[in-house]
Amino acid sequence: MITKFKKVVGILRVPKPIKICAIVVGTLFLLIYPTTSPKGDSHSKTDQTRPASTHYEQRTPSRDGIGKIYMGREISQVMGHLAAGWLERPEREREEMPNKLIEMLKLKEGDVVADIGVGTGYIARRISPIVGKTGTIYGVEIQQEMLDILAEKMTEEGITNIKGVLGTITNPKLPPNSVDLAIMVDVYHEFSHPYEMMHNICRALKVGGRVAFVEYRLEDDSVPIKRLHKMSELQVIKEATPHPLSWIETLDGLPWQHVIIFEKVATDFTSL
Ligand SMILES: C[S@@+](CC[C@H](N)C(=O)[O-])C[C@H]1O[C@@H](n2cnc3c(N)ncnc32)[C@H](O)[C@@H]1O
Repeated sequence: MITKFKKVVGILRVPKPIKICAIVVGTLFLLIYPTTSPKGDSHSKTDQTRPASTHYEQRTPSRDGIGKIYMGREISQVMGHLAAGWLERPEREREEMPNKLIEMLKLKEGDVVADIGVGTGYIARRISPIVGKTGTIYGVEIQQEMLDILAEKMTEEGITNIKGVLGTITNPKLPPNSVDLAIMVDVYHEFSHPYEMMHNICRALKVGGRVAFVEYRLEDDSVPIKRLHKMSELQVIKEATPHPLSWIETLDGLPWQHVIIFEKVATDFTSL
């Protein structure tokens, strides 16, 4: 393309210094233009095909972080399975009001839900009776020990509609175009590869399917949670931008968390 441009300028009858100037300016324009996304093109092809390594920077880790920076945010350490008891603490009912959260999500009988980072199933087990026998909940985890605890609790409680799925740090391993709602409660900030995870979560969502980020509110100093385990609404929206997601609403009715909901818009994943 650059050679073609030189040829076009070459045949014009203009003084040589002007030709040279035109070639330099034109070449610079052609080199720079393709890497610049138009404003508002939030999930451009350029973004989605970028090599994964360019999404992240590395710094010295802070106390609770892994030193990996994504869109200006340091990613937190993963909560290990030895702390599983904390997920089932009785005071969580008062601190997080899980039943109120689930009511806000407006789920219905037969829905397919993916609880990404399911842990012990504290949330998935409460969603179970709502989606009922005709619905499915994929309980996705990267720690097999968490899935083992989930299986034990399902047996104790007679739950049969949650399917444990062992994912990887980049991929929840879910069937494409199958999920009505992907929910992440206190999970997203732990993803070591948020770009790749969100890309694959979007693949698993049906068009029109929703994704709910439930995160401790960074904006609220009175929420007694470590900084890297909290996220602002603005940061969540920023990190959703490279993906085929449209922001729907942010729900603020919970004591410590906000629920930030997006919908999947139609996209072409075939070239990826
Ligand atoms: C703080 S726990 C929250 C568990 C559960 N959502 C709840 O609210 O009770 C976070 C969980 O996310 C899981 N996790 C972290 N990265 C993940 C990933 N890429 N895919 C699936 N699970 C992940 C961790 O293993 C951990 O069990």
